[in-house]
Amino acid sequence: MNDLNELEKQARQSHVPIMMDSGMLFLTGYIRSHPGIMRILEAGTAVGWSSMKMAEVRENITVDTIEIDGDMYRQAVENIRNAGLSDRIFVHHMDAVNFETASYYDLFFIDAAKSQYRKYLEHFYPNSYVGSVFIFDNLNFHGIVDHPELSENRSTLQMTRKILRFRERLMQDRRFKTEFYPEIGDGIAVSERIL
Ligand SMILES: C[S@@+](CC[C@H](N)C(=O)[O-])C[C@H]1O[C@@H](n2cnc3c(N)ncnc32)[C@H](O)[C@@H]1O
Repeated sequence: MNDLNELEKQARQSHVPIMMDSGMLFLTGYIRSHPGIMRILEAGTAVGWSSMKMAEVRENITVDTIEIDGDMYRQAVENIRNAGLSDRIFVHHMDAVNFETASYYDLFFIDAAKSQYRKYLEHFYPNSYVGSVFIFDNLNFHGIVDHPELSENRSTLQMTRKILRFRERLMQDRRFKTEFYPEIGDGIAVSERIL
């Protein structure tokens, strides 16, 4: 078992909310089939698993990844250092909406606070170009977005209503060509900037 498989196993055992396997296969497959993707920005690092899976696809890939939680940030930095990827994956400890850079990215992987997806999209839009792609995970939120009767928790329902509004607006956003894959991962959207 390689180190990344071991990290995945540990993260799942400790209930760190890393991406579902089918979502990760889709994401890495997407990057593999688009050789132009070299600069990636990720919102929501957790322990660094998804950053490393993305960086592993090709050696010319660099990742800026942003994590708000101090403990997660420290674990990610250590895991990335142990994997020898610190020269290609840069972990930033802050709220993703405070990350300011003049860099442009080929791919944005948005996997941080689900209720903030609109904010992240608008914040990072100036760092994209026509052809950049945003990938969003958790747009089903375990099926609750489309079936609110599955939860009785008020804050979960509030959040899933926000996700639904975001998803509907994204599908109609004329700046992007969006494909929604409800059956992959926890509901993934791929939005290519066209304007
Ligand atoms: C679903 S997990 C990320 C999983 C990771 N992408 C993976 O698949 O390996 C979401 C992470 O986003 C972080 N997060 C939540 N709100 C954030 C924010 N505003 N800015 C940056 N990170 C945030 C959480 O602390 C959590 O570690």
